[in-house]
Amino acid sequence: MIRARRSVVAVLFRLWDSPAAPGTARLVADGVGGEHLLVTQHAEVRAVLTDQDTYRPDNALDAVTPIPASALRILVRHGFRLPPTLANNGGVSHPAIRAEVADLLHPRSVETQRSWLTALVRTRVVSAREDLDRGRPVDLHATLAADLPLLVLARLVDLPAAETDAVKRFARAALELFWAPLSTDRQNHLATIVGEFHLTLRDFAAHGGGLAARLRAAGHPLDVVAGALFFLLVAGQETTSQFLTLLMHRLATTAVPAAARPADIVEESLRLDTPIVTWRRVAARDTTLGDVPVPAGTSLLLWLTAAARDPSAVAAPDDFVPGQRGSRRHLAFGAGAHRCAGASLARMEAEVVTAETRDLLGGVEVLRAPWSPDNLTFRMPDTFLIGPKS
Ligand code: HEM
Repeated sequence: MIRARRSVVAVLFRLWDSPAAPGTARLVADGVGGEHLLVTQHAEVRAVLTDQDTYRPDNALDAVTPIPASALRILVRHGFRLPPTLANNGGVSHPAIRAEVADLLHPRSVETQRSWLTALVRTRVVSAREDLDRGRPVDLHATLAADLPLLVLARLVDLPAAETDAVKRFARAALELFWAPLSTDRQNHLATIVGEFHLTLRDFAAHGGGLAARLRAAGHPLDVVAGALFFLLVAGQETTSQFLTLLMHRLATTAVPAAARPADIVEESLRLDTPIVTWRRVAARDTTLGDVPVPAGTSLLLWLTAAARDPSAVAAPDDFVPGQRGSRRHLAFGAGAHRCAGASLARMEAEVVTAETRDLLGGVEVLRAPWSPDNLTFRMPDTFLIGPKS
C-alpha cells in the first residue's frame, strides 16, 4: 500500500519524465495531502480550460503542500496575501484586471522590443562563441535565459526597482513554495524569501506608476494590485527563462531542418518542451468528464504535455517536426478566459533566441543538460552547460 502511494508521488512531481499516453481521466494522490483528477486527453483538457462555469480557476495558485502555521505566520507578518487577481480569479473583477495587463503586453508593444532584444542576444552569442573557441564551457541558462525575460518585461511594464537576482530568487521561491513537495523547514525558509520581497511589491502597489497606478485608479484594492504584480513578476519572466533554457537544449540535441522557420521551431518546442507541465482547475458543481463522475470541489490536474502528444491532435506526436499538422494545437498557454496574456511576448523572445543561437547550438557538446527539481507544474532548470564539440 505504502509503496504504491510513493510511486504515484514520484511520478506526479516529475510528470515531464513520464510517458504521457493520453487516456481516461483518473484520480491520483499527490502524497502531500491532496487528490487530483489527472486529465490527459487533448479534447478533455481543452474542454475543462474553456468551461469556466463548470471548472473554476480558483485553485490555480493553491499551495500543493499545505502551508503549515509556522510558514503562514511568516507570510502574514510580511502582509502577504494572494486574493483572486488573474490566473486564480473566476470572479467578476477578472476581465478588467486582465484587460489592463493585456493592454501593456499587446503584440504591437511586444514587437517594438524585438530589435533591441536581438541586438542584446547577438552580443551575448558572440561572447559565448569566444568562450567556446577558447575551450571554456558556457552556461546557457545564465547567459541567454535567466535575465532576458525580466529585462524585456521591465521595458514594457513599470516594475519595482529591484536587483535581477532578488527578483529571480523570489520568483523561484514562490514556484517552489506553491508547487513543490516540501518539508516544513523548507516552507519556512521559502516563506521568508517570498514574504520579504512581497513588502517591496506592496510598497510599489501603493505608490508605483504604470500598471499599479492604473489598477489603483480603477479602484482595485491594494492586495489585488500587489497580487497582479506578484503574478507578472513570476509568470511574466521565470516561465520564459525556463522555456528558453529547454528550447536551447532542444536546439543543441535535435537536428532541425535548416529551412524550418524560427516561429515553427518555437511552436513545436512549446508543444514538447513547455515549462508548465500541468495546470489546475476546480469543479464548481457535480459533473462528468467523459464517463468519469466529477464531484463538486474536485481538483483537476490538467496534464498539458500529455495533451500535446495526443495523436488525435497532432500528426507525429512524439517527434519534433516544426510546422507539422497540429503543432500549434498545444495548450502550453492554457485556453479560454485565462489564456496566457503574455503568449506573444514569450513567443517573440523565443523566436529571437532561436534565430540567434541555432547556428551556435548546431555544433556544441552538452556537458550538463538542464535538470528540473520535483515540482507539480514548473520545470525550473537552473543550469545548462555546453562545451566545444570534441
Ligand atoms: C513560455 C512562457 C509561458 C508559458 C508556457 C505560460 C503559460 C501560461 C499558462 C498555462 C497560463 C494559465 C492559462 C489558463 O488558465 O488557461 C498562463 C497565464 C498567464 N500568463 Fe503566461 N506563460 C508564459 C509566459 C508569460 C509571460 C511572458 C507573461 C507576461 C509578461 C505571462 C502572463 C500571464 C498572465 C497575466 C496569465 C493569467 C491570465 C489570466 O488569468 O487572465 N505569461 N500562462
